[in-house]
Amino acid sequence: MSNVVSYELNGNIGIIRVNNPPVNALARVVRQGILDAVTEAQKDASEAIVLCCEGRTFIAGADITEFGKPPMEPGLPEVLTVIENSSKPVIAAIHGTALGGGFEVALACHYRCAVASAQVGLPEVKLGLLPGAGGTQRVPRVAGVKAALDMITSGNPIAAGKACEMGLVDEIIGDTDLVAGAIQYAKDLAESGAPLKRIRDISIDPASIEPGFFDKARKEQAKRARGQIAPDRIVTAIEAAVTLPMDKGLERERELFKELVTSPESAALRHIFFAERQAAKIKDLPADTQSRAINKVAIIGGGTMGGGIAMCFANVGIPVVMVEINDEALSRGLGIISKNYTITVQKGKLAADKMQERLDLITGTTNYSALADVDLVIEAVFENLELKQEIFAKLDKGCKPGAILATNTSYQDVDAIAAATNRPQDVVGMHFFSPANVMKLLEVVRGEKTADDVLATVMQVGKKIGKICALSRVCYGFIGNRMLSGYGREAQMLLLDGCTPEQVDSALERFGMAMGPLAMGDLAGLDVGYKARQARTDLPDNPKLFRMGTVLVEIGRLGQKTGAGYYKYDPATRARMSDPEVEKLIQDEARKLGIEQRKITDEEIIERCLYPLINEGAKILEEGIAQRPSDIDVVYVYGYAFPAAKGGPMHYADQVGLKNVYNKINEFRGRYGEQYWKPAALLEKLAGSGKTFAEWGAGS
Ligand code: 3HC
Ligand code: NAI
Repeated sequence: MSNVVSYELNGNIGIIRVNNPPVNALARVVRQGILDAVTEAQKDASEAIVLCCEGRTFIAGADITEFGKPPMEPGLPEVLTVIENSSKPVIAAIHGTALGGGFEVALACHYRCAVASAQVGLPEVKLGLLPGAGGTQRVPRVAGVKAALDMITSGNPIAAGKACEMGLVDEIIGDTDLVAGAIQYAKDLAESGAPLKRIRDISIDPASIEPGFFDKARKEQAKRARGQIAPDRIVTAIEAAVTLPMDKGLERERELFKELVTSPESAALRHIFFAERQAAKIKDLPADTQSRAINKVAIIGGGTMGGGIAMCFANVGIPVVMVEINDEALSRGLGIISKNYTITVQKGKLAADKMQERLDLITGTTNYSALADVDLVIEAVFENLELKQEIFAKLDKGCKPGAILATNTSYQDVDAIAAATNRPQDVVGMHFFSPANVMKLLEVVRGEKTADDVLATVMQVGKKIGKICALSRVCYGFIGNRMLSGYGREAQMLLLDGCTPEQVDSALERFGMAMGPLAMGDLAGLDVGYKARQARTDLPDNPKLFRMGTVLVEIGRLGQKTGAGYYKYDPATRARMSDPEVEKLIQDEARKLGIEQRKITDEEIIERCLYPLINEGAKILEEGIAQRPSDIDVVYVYGYAFPAAKGGPMHYADQVGLKNVYNKINEFRGRYGEQYWKPAALLEKLAGSGKTFAEWGAGS
């Protein structure tokens, strides 16, 4: 037997222990080990068999790194058949998270017990897959078709207590000693002569499912999943649980799983799974870097961002003091926080007493002396370098030694801000995204002098408050906003060339973006970009550049907040509607600029908007602003709602082929001029050598 799976006989109970850190993934040795152990237990004096795991969790699923490689025997379905056919009851003892193939192992067992803190789930959909080892056939048999559909299409885990109510877990045992509890449970079952309960023996009465149920579910999933295929295949697999006998249903599930595991969608989502975890690792940080303790935080500026950031800390129990410029601004800021929590309570997503606990953790002041005992300060005042420098000079005087001084600036030079202090090593960028309490991304900006332990601490704190962190060096706009500039530029150029706003946005929304760039501009306020452009002195003198954004702002169409921007908005529902007035304005501007408008394909819209992202991403890599191509993908997926099922801009470029991207950029250079369409040197090099960004990232 392998050393990752052990088997021992304890009285009349056989105990199989899996020990494959960190999450007991079902690598080949684990599958083989479980199969061998169950086989061995058939021959000894055991009367029941407990299957449990060492470490922090029950089996958390298939080993994702094995997908895309040639299959290795034994396959998981084979192992589950051996468990299910055991002549003695097999009892899964669950702690931590039983996920995916891990939960499917548990479902093939005859009984399942769990500690109350455990969770079970089938998250395969998040990897563009469906449960491929019986999950779609067994869950509906136990919990019902509707519950199975919700559980498997959402991929969200379920707490043990709820799983017990749904019949997915048979027994909740004390949290203190899982194995002892499971052994006692197994003994009781053996003693009472409990039957070999096999989920496969339950049948679902097709008449219990209302006609049209699955067609409706497929339509709902198509609407929700925007182009992704896994949710649709999940519906089909669950339908098979109703219409086919168990073995045929398992076969159908397997076929669908094989289709999905080779899909570009799943490859992209698996890429993002690993990219997200990589991004938190700073390449040149010594492994033994100690972090600083963060027990109290201050936020300077309680506006849009400051309020959301304060909530992030209060949500995890860290006290926050918010500093504002005057009492009026302070009470407005605190009021918005309170209102946001109230809405969450009204939606039933937060208990009222929890809201009060969180509110109690947030205090407000207009006095900088309140900062003397804080461990971390995050500045979120207006986007103005002089103001930020003034504030950092004050922080330098008022904060205790070792306090981390962070700025949430979107564009300003973190080194210039750090230079306003006598402790630039303690200064770092923490760039949150709006709304800060919702958006997952945190761009951590490493200044020239930022100390290693400051970076380690900020990465750790980011994880604690539920963010996905990615590291950026200092440049204008850091990784995300710097890349965005070309995307927005082309969206506007396309209007002058002949597109309507609806056409640009809907092409990108069909590609998978949560919202097209022009609608996004309306949401954020067109004046934001307008003001940022006014403040810049380095923009090329080109009358076409951001022309429509400028025209709209100058006639007072600032976006949703004024009821009109690129679109007009229904005052009651905020639904966006095309506006013939804007279409006319665009035509007028094109005429003034001598542009002959033409019909433009969706393909050109996608290429013209996304290839500047990719090209700028390549420059960001060349310059060492981002650590790896996959970090850029994380920034775009979690900060800018780039479709995860396309894997982020750099992964997408690899899929399209860098040579194709390079050639197209050159074609656009010929057509639209060199000013904006010059391939990055790295893109040119990789296109020439037939390499991908991923290969370059792995080698650099
Ligand atoms: N396969 C391979 N590696 C895995 C893995 C898996 N299923 N799950 C986690 N890991 C790795 C991570 O990449 C990470 O590696 P690193 O330390 O080198 O970066 C390490 O394990 C620890 O993972 P986390 O940082 O995510 O640890 P957390 O404690 O924060 O979270 C977890 C633990 C909730 C289990 C989380 O890792 C997770 O959600 N894992 C994926 C679960 C999943 O999707 N399972 C389904 C797989 S598909 C399947 O089972 C198909 C089946 O139906 C046939
Ligand atoms: P905001 O205008 O909503 O809030 C700024 C707040 O700072 C105001 O409430 C103001 O009273 C307060 N303030 C000004 N001077 C102050 C001082 N000396 N001391 C204490 N408080 C002071 O601005 P917003 O949108 O929250 O932006 C803040 C920062 O976050 C900016 O640097 C911005 O670039 C950045 N940012 C903004 C994002 C957004 O989408 N709004 C996204 C990411 C970063």
